[in-house]
Amino acid sequence: MSSAEANPMRPYLGRLAGIEDIAAGIKLFQVEMTGPEGQAAFSEYKPGQFAFVSAFGAGEAPFGITSTPRRGSLVEFAIAALGHVTNTLHSLEVGDPVGVRGPLGNWFPMEEIKGRDIVILGGGIGGAPLRPVVHTILDNRVDYGHVTILWAARSPDLLVFTEEFDDWRATPDLDVHVTVDRGEEGWTGNVGLITQLLEQVNPSTENTVAITCGPPIMIHFAFLTLGKLGFNPEQSLTTLEARMHCGIGKCGRCNMGEKFVCTDGPVFWQSDIVGFLEGLL
Ligand code: FES
Repeated sequence: MSSAEANPMRPYLGRLAGIEDIAAGIKLFQVEMTGPEGQAAFSEYKPGQFAFVSAFGAGEAPFGITSTPRRGSLVEFAIAALGHVTNTLHSLEVGDPVGVRGPLGNWFPMEEIKGRDIVILGGGIGGAPLRPVVHTILDNRVDYGHVTILWAARSPDLLVFTEEFDDWRATPDLDVHVTVDRGEEGWTGNVGLITQLLEQVNPSTENTVAITCGPPIMIHFAFLTLGKLGFNPEQSLTTLEARMHCGIGKCGRCNMGEKFVCTDGPVFWQSDIVGFLEGLL
């Protein structure tokens, strides 16, 4: 029995192998797991799973994992500086130790949706858990149909993973559409909400799955717009954030009706959370 099985609240030790500014106030942290148990735990994880990252002395917070094990052994998290734990993480430097507890939760059913067209809607840093979805599609391109990516942020400086757009756009049968709520000097792209862009792009619903990730209010309006375009709740997936403490179904802090976001999710079909999403708004 590993020590993590003995105490699931105990993090594995890691070391910051890389820190990159990827948008205003958002950094990409690359964590090298330093012990054999952590390396084994993070040798296999799936798109959509999350983990708690701890800054020693400050506490821990949950984040969607934004890497895939296929692309390397470093475990990546895109983190905005928004509170005590995240501000402390932002103050760390390459080489500093961190704790990582996970991988936790369920994942996007990438096997189940093989052969289908896919619409991906990423809002702000909410796009971070969708990067592993995009990478899985890119690395297994023949397994999926046409892919439409809609990527949005409040302003251009908050768009994440922009340096990967060329790579995404070079992929056959894959379109990338980008929009910002507010443009700024020099911005020549779309200005408007992601839901307006979705209506313009108007993807076919035929054999299609939509995957949305962002703030709850964006997910709410994305679901409404998808519904208007003919998508039914069995065709739409999302991943939810919730007030989490344990991440392992023990504390009840993340409950949504009878479901726990940490163990029943964070990935849900829209049809499974009808009536609950509104409670997160
Ligand atoms: S975070 Fe404790 S039950 Fe989900």
